Amino acid sequence: MSNVATTRNAANTVRIVEVGARDGLQNEKTLLPAEVKIALIDRLSSTGLKTIEATSFVSPKWVPQLADAAEVFCGIRKAPGVSYPVLVPNLQGYERAREVGANEVAVFTAASEAFNRKNVNASIDESIERFVPVLERAKADGVAVRGYVSTVLGCPYQGEVPVRDVVRVAQRLHELGCHEISLGDTIGVGTPAKARAMLHAVAQAVPMEALAVHFHDTYGQALANILACLEEGVRVVDSAVSGTGGCPYAKGATGNVASEDVVYMLHGMGMETGVDLDLLIATGAWLSAQLHKDTASRVTRARTAA
Ligand code: HMG
Ligand code: MG
Repeated sequence: MSNVATTRNAANTVRIVEVGARDGLQNEKTLLPAEVKIALIDRLSSTGLKTIEATSFVSPKWVPQLADAAEVFCGIRKAPGVSYPVLVPNLQGYERAREVGANEVAVFTAASEAFNRKNVNASIDESIERFVPVLERAKADGVAVRGYVSTVLGCPYQGEVPVRDVVRVAQRLHELGCHEISLGDTIGVGTPAKARAMLHAVAQAVPMEALAVHFHDTYGQALANILACLEEGVRVVDSAVSGTGGCPYAKGATGNVASEDVVYMLHGMGMETGVDLDLLIATGAWLSAQLHKDTASRVTRARTAA
């Protein structure tokens, strides 16, 4: 396996987009009180993470776990130099987010029609049409917009997802003004060669600097997939502390890759993240205690074993 530092993107710094407070909590069976979510984000803010996705302004009927989005967003300490993007599915979500002062948002769609219909009750093109006014307003307001493409390596309803569909949707979001496109393996079925080929294809249409990868770890492939994508040149990686996560509308989707494990791997490769691994491990251990479940992070398990 080639050394990352010798591949086509020699930059040694990786930005972690911590999605635990959003992706991590949206699928939890027990509703966590807002003050616990606020404490989680405040703890994450002191680890050195630069991007912490805070919550979602989606329909509370669809995702009751995040119905407290406004309360959470208002309650968190906004650490200098840290951004706190929030998910919005439509203009209504954007307006709710702006009312509480969010200045970075993320829109989301998919490469698979079947999944998108289940997740947002719309075709891919219809969901993108909903983003057009969001992006117009965001541009006028000076708000940065990230775009997610889900099911980039497989769909729980459709099965195989052609790479050309991923490229088309990613390119469209980028053309509409999304500054960064996160490529999501929503159900964690991807394997390294496929992940790398998918990223390579998307990078022919969207600059690599504007791409991020988002791996769920359902099949235990996430770290291997991330390594393959780092070798291909990506330098933004989404992950969730303690390996929480999952989409309520993606059958079989389990947690995101654990942030602790990603940071451990990157530091071990001599790459920089700016994250204090010990503080992150302590936060992950604290969160799993709050959730009354074992951490999914192998690193946290190893470091906190009696
Ligand atoms: P709909 O039912 O088709 O929408 O839902 P609607 O426009 O007909 O509205 C229905 C009701 O919802 C109305 O209220 C609206 O006001 C309300 P009613 O009149 O019935 O009382 N509503 C809202 N309320 C608050 N905030 C809003 C909002 N919008 C409408 N923003 C909709 C369409 C998109 C709203 C819905 O399907 C939805 O919210 N879906 C969200 C699903 C979701 O959050 N999934 C998880 C996030 S994506 C993910 O996890 C993948 C990712 O991690 C990457 C990866 O892993 O691949 C990002
Ligand atoms: Mg996800």
